[in-house]
Amino acid sequence: MASTVTISSRGEQRVRSGHPWIYRADIVHVQAEGGEIVRVLGPRNRTIGYGLFSDRSQISIRMLTHGEVVADLPLLRARLERAIAFRDTLGLDANAYRLVHAEADLLPSLVVDRYADHLVVQALSQGMDRLLPRITAMLAEIAAPAGILARNDPKVRALEGLDQTVEVLYGSVPASVVAREGPIEYAVDLRTGQKTGLFLDQRENREAAARYARGRLLDCFSYSGGFALRLARRCPEAEAVDISADAVARIRANAERNGVPHLEAREANVFDELRRLERAGAQYDTIVLDPPAFAKHKASIPNARAGYKEINLRAMRLLAPGGYLITCSCSYNVNEEMFAAMLHEAAVDSHTPVAIVEKRMQGRDHPVLVGVPETHYLKCFILRRVE
Ligand SMILES: C[S@@+](CC[C@H](N)C(=O)[O-])C[C@H]1O[C@@H](n2cnc3c(N)ncnc32)[C@H](O)[C@@H]1O
Repeated sequence: MASTVTISSRGEQRVRSGHPWIYRADIVHVQAEGGEIVRVLGPRNRTIGYGLFSDRSQISIRMLTHGEVVADLPLLRARLERAIAFRDTLGLDANAYRLVHAEADLLPSLVVDRYADHLVVQALSQGMDRLLPRITAMLAEIAAPAGILARNDPKVRALEGLDQTVEVLYGSVPASVVAREGPIEYAVDLRTGQKTGLFLDQRENREAAARYARGRLLDCFSYSGGFALRLARRCPEAEAVDISADAVARIRANAERNGVPHLEAREANVFDELRRLERAGAQYDTIVLDPPAFAKHKASIPNARAGYKEINLRAMRLLAPGGYLITCSCSYNVNEEMFAAMLHEAAVDSHTPVAIVEKRMQGRDHPVLVGVPETHYLKCFILRRVE
């Protein structure tokens, strides 16, 4: 008999409203092992659909199908094929981009990124972890990569009781892969780079920001120089700041590779650096703020908001009249409305009249599934100091 999990009417309601997650508090009865694809039953024993079951996470079930539609391997393969075919239609001017964006591609907790001829996968639930050998075989057939690397080292795997590993699942994966985004090439270390190697979700925001960049540039939280390298081509003076020595070494190597000798990279804490620059009376025509997620969970929202306000307020003070501030937040817990309200306060407190020129989100290869707010995590506002 197929494994089953019975959920409460509140859980059923949530699924009916279009959300694929069922929390542990809504689990009534379990006749299944963690990692299985289970038949999900409502309180009156009606089949609600099939989903991935986890016996450790707060998210107990990630729905795959509704009603009697069985979630089998052909269904998963069809979804992989559709997700990959969709990216082919986007006309992306890059050879590194997301092929599968988990829930938004109806493949919950599965991430697949392409870096030139190589794929990087992440299985972030017990169910996806168990399916990974089958998914790998399907990806090898559909996308014909030279190698597939599992970057199964994100901390969220611990919440699922899964180990944190990095391993080659298929073919071979070199120590460094060259990824191209528009005119810029990056040397990417897929095994140790942040995320799966690059912040692919910012690709279209880097492209958009490049349309405004001018004068003297300051790229804060630069990582391997994503914004800086792209924008420096339009800015006669360019500086990049990151707290990590490894990131600064990557920026320098990428600046050399791309022939951007005037990009100066330095290792510093952006909070201190913005204060120092303000004291020195510095002014910039283009500033980028792309910090890590300050609000990893709900409890950290007040501190995160204060952190965002601090850096935005200081950046606004450093902005020359007519200058542009490209400011981002990748914290899902700080939504667009909160982010806009924080920017309003920062503008008032710094006495800087700024106008919103563009409100953006993560790139089109990281789409947002309607009804699942968790899939909209990245905000990117392009502001102009009016005078
Ligand atoms: C979201 S990533 C930036 C991605 C980058 N803008 C890009 O396009 O590739 C955030 C970066 O901030 C750096 N970082 C974190 N805290 C920092 C701090 N207090 N000061 C400076 N850099 C910091 C991290 O090392 C990481 O490289």
